[in-house]
Amino acid sequence: MPFGVIYFAIMPTIDIGLDKTLAALGVTQPDQVALHFAKIRVHFQAHFQTVHDESDWKILRDGWLGRKSGVLTQITDNWLKPATPELKRAVGACLNELRAQVEAKIEERRLAIESGTEESALARERVDLSLPGVIRPIGSHHLIRQVFQEIEDIFFSIGFSVVEGPEIETSYYNFEALNIPEFHPVRDDMDTFYLELPKGAPAPLLLRTHTSPMQIRTMEKQKPPVRVIVPGKVYRRDNPDATHSFAFHQIEGLAVDTDITFCDFTGTIEYFVKQFFGPSVKTRFRPSYFPFTEPSVEFDVSCPFCGGTGTAAGGGTCSKCKGAAWIELFGAGMVDPAVYGFVNYDAKRVSGFAFGIGIDRLAMLKYGIDDIQVFFQNDLRFLRQFP
Ligand code: FA5
Repeated sequence: MPFGVIYFAIMPTIDIGLDKTLAALGVTQPDQVALHFAKIRVHFQAHFQTVHDESDWKILRDGWLGRKSGVLTQITDNWLKPATPELKRAVGACLNELRAQVEAKIEERRLAIESGTEESALARERVDLSLPGVIRPIGSHHLIRQVFQEIEDIFFSIGFSVVEGPEIETSYYNFEALNIPEFHPVRDDMDTFYLELPKGAPAPLLLRTHTSPMQIRTMEKQKPPVRVIVPGKVYRRDNPDATHSFAFHQIEGLAVDTDITFCDFTGTIEYFVKQFFGPSVKTRFRPSYFPFTEPSVEFDVSCPFCGGTGTAAGGGTCSKCKGAAWIELFGAGMVDPAVYGFVNYDAKRVSGFAFGIGIDRLAMLKYGIDDIQVFFQNDLRFLRQFP
């Protein structure tokens, strides 16, 4: 850059005589020096006003503070160094003052540009709270889980606690210890899936057909009194239809103590059913058979759909109970003394009752669902009806 002319990329060039000595500019007295510095300040101010971004700022910095040819260097070389001794002092003082001002202003603009850049970056990244959000649907419990919870709460309220057990069982817990020896005909009703194990495996393993094995596992672990319910999945080799699935859900109940009677049994079951279906349902027991309970019963409720009349609201036969007015709910009974022999309980001292509720069919009854398969199809149109 030729001396004497300030070239700015962003402002017109201005001749302020930087390439001349003060003597050549006709400055002979110290009081004339300030006037020339004042001119320079005006130019600095003009240049300063045009700086808006980082590249403008670099031109300003290099143009004024650049070591080789910045304005302050030119003043030093052309005005200060060759100045007469009378002028030197005044030039030095004005130059120091100018340098301090220029440096301060340049730093001030650097900070302003930096924070401006930050601000605009922040503005770009700022979350616009007025934009519609991304709706992430919150799931809900499956109806079966909800019914489990409902039943668990009812039994919690009368002192039962929950235990859970394995879905893969040995035949001992699933059958033998429940007084169902090999070749017992009742095994036909509970045909199941056996696991393929390596040859020589100690015992066959199967998918449990009911939650009753947990009766044995619980009594093996704890002495009476026992009061537990066992929610869980069970499996049977049943062909699927409106009321059968090869995987379904049960809740087992077991209460054993030294003085449990058939009255405790019926009272507990009736309490549960009235809590679950409402106080107006009627209940009844029918004799039945399970190898691990004696006596055994099937427990029925009056049909909650037709109010126990067998007739549908619009006339004709109730489709749910098929006109019978009663619906079979689950199997139960007093624990067969033979079972106590498998868990080292003294059959002469203890007594108790057990029940096994099919949860899927119970949920179908309560919520008017006519096909058990919908529980396993994950169809949102069905699931969303039970938020
Ligand atoms: C049992 O499983 C006995 N363990 C119940 C029991 C426990 C009796 C304790 C006495 C003492 P059952 O095979 O009846 O019993 O099955 C119980 C319930 O499971 C049935 O009432 C029915 O609601 C349900 N259930 C049986 N098979 C299926 C199936 N394939 N699909 C859906 N639910 C089923």
